[in-house]
Amino acid sequence: MDHAVMMDSKSGNEALALCLTECLSNTVVFKFKAHGHHWNVKGSDFAEFHEFFGDIYLESEEQIDAIAELIRTRGKPVIYRLTDFANNSSISDAEVGSDALGMVRDLRDSNLTLLACLNDTFNCAQAVNDQGIMNVLADILSKRSKLNWFLSSFLGEEAPTELPMHESMLEEALEEAAEQI
Ligand SMILES: [Fe+2]
Repeated sequence: MDHAVMMDSKSGNEALALCLTECLSNTVVFKFKAHGHHWNVKGSDFAEFHEFFGDIYLESEEQIDAIAELIRTRGKPVIYRLTDFANNSSISDAEVGSDALGMVRDLRDSNLTLLACLNDTFNCAQAVNDQGIMNVLADILSKRSKLNWFLSSFLGEEAPTELPMHESMLEEALEEAAEQI
């Protein structure tokens, strides 16, 4: 899709707000996963994983606030009810038990989906030439790329460089935004 053609108006900003809302919802779901793993992990490496998951949920909390404030600075309301976050999230929320490596794999896969979502949203911000949003998203993307490496290394794997197929959020958002205008 030629974003420059598609994203030149009010519909572009509406689409960007919807994309940011999906990133926010995914980050909330991801944060609760990491926090749950922090509480529930068991095993001989408990202390190491308890702290590792703790660092991940704290960093995610900062990102939640940063993304929510981006939405508000562009004059849009921010969702806050847990049901709304669940309904707007595109990452898996499956039960993973208490095995540390199972938790790490769950977070690595969820983080990849989040990277894909953030990447789409960055492209959306670029299409409407919103440098402020691009800057914040670039910072979050670099932190989540590093996390992709950390989580993959715990699994004894190289960090995947290909992002998973992500339902074209931008196209969906454009359709939804067009209906709202
Ligand atoms: Fe704690």
